[in-house]
Amino acid sequence: MATLENILERAAAEISAADSLVALDETRVRYLGKKGEITQLLKQLGKMSKVERPKAGAQINDAKTELTRILEQRRTKIESNVYREQLKSEVIDVSLPGRRSSLGSFHPITKVLDRIEDFFTGVGYMVVEGPEIEDDYHNFEALNIPAHHPARAMHDTFYFSDELLLRTHTSPVQVRVMEVQEPPIRIICPGRVFRVDQPDPSHLPMFHQVEGLVVDTDVTFADLKGTIVEFLRVFFEREDLKVRFRPSYFPFTEPSAEVDVHCVSCNSSGCRVCSNTGWLEVMGAGMVHPKVLEYAGIDSEKHSGMAFGMGPDRLAMLRYSVSDLRDYLDNDLRFLEQFK
Ligand code: PHE
Repeated sequence: MATLENILERAAAEISAADSLVALDETRVRYLGKKGEITQLLKQLGKMSKVERPKAGAQINDAKTELTRILEQRRTKIESNVYREQLKSEVIDVSLPGRRSSLGSFHPITKVLDRIEDFFTGVGYMVVEGPEIEDDYHNFEALNIPAHHPARAMHDTFYFSDELLLRTHTSPVQVRVMEVQEPPIRIICPGRVFRVDQPDPSHLPMFHQVEGLVVDTDVTFADLKGTIVEFLRVFFEREDLKVRFRPSYFPFTEPSAEVDVHCVSCNSSGCRVCSNTGWLEVMGAGMVHPKVLEYAGIDSEKHSGMAFGMGPDRLAMLRYSVSDLRDYLDNDLRFLEQFK
C-alpha cells in the first residue's frame, strides 16, 4: 500500500509538471502503459493470497481510475493553454493605423509643360514631338542658318558627325511638320534640347523648349502678339501682366522679337531675379522667314507664319522660385516633395 501511495504522489507531481501533450503522454505510459508502474502492480496480484487479493486489486484499480482522471484534467488544461497561446499570437489589432503608401508628385518641369500644353491645345494647337538626334539640315540649314553663318556660334552644338547632332532647339520639329503638312498649321513642339555648357545655377547642357508655329493665309504680327500676351497672362495667372516686345534677330524669323514680362518676383521694383531691371526675358518670337517657308515647300506668297519659343526650365524657375537649375536633375526628394 505504501508503494501505491508513493506511486500516486509521484505520478500526480509529474502530471501537473507536464507542460505539453507529448510530455503528458510520456507520463501516462510510465504509469499506465504496458510496462507502467501501475500495470506492473496489477500483474503482481497473482502472487498474493486469496484473502489479500480482492482488496489490493480494488485499491490498485481506484489508483488507476484516479490517475486517469487527473491525466484527463491536465490534458484539457494543456489543450486550452495551447489554444489561448495560438489566439494570442494571431491577434489582429484592427485599430492600428495602416501602412501608408507614399504618393509621388510630378516634376516641376512636367507641371509647367502640362500647363503650356493645356493652354495651346485649348485654343486649337496640336502637340508634336520630334527626334532629339537631328541632322544638320533640319537643325540649321532649313532654318536659314547655312554653314559658317555666325548664328551657329550661338548654338554650341554636340556633334556626332558632320551630319548628325543633338538638336540645339525644337525648331527642326516645325520644319519636319511643314515638310509634310499643308497649311493651316497650328502646332507646339515641346522637348529636350542640348547645348555644350558648363552646368551652373542658370545653365544646363540639357534643357527644354516649347516652340509654337502657326502657318496660314494671313497670319500677322498682331496674331503673334495677341497669342503670346494672352498665354503669358494665363500662365502667370495675372490678368494685368505687363508684356513687352523688343526687336531682336533670329535667322529663321523676320521681324524678330524677344519677349519680356514684368518681373513676377519683385513686381518689377527690381531684384536679384531680374538683375534690377524689373523685366524678365521669357521668349523669342517672330514672323517665319519666307526662306524657311520656301525650304519646306510652302508658297511664301500665299502663306505667312508666326513662331515663338520658350524655356520651360526658366518658366518653372520663375513660377516655383527655384534658384538653381541643377536642382531639377538631382532627384533629391527634399526638392521634389515641395511640388506635391
Ligand atoms: N529656336 C530659337 C532658339 O532656340 C527660339 C525661337 C523660336 C525664336 C521661334 C523665335 C521663334 O533660340
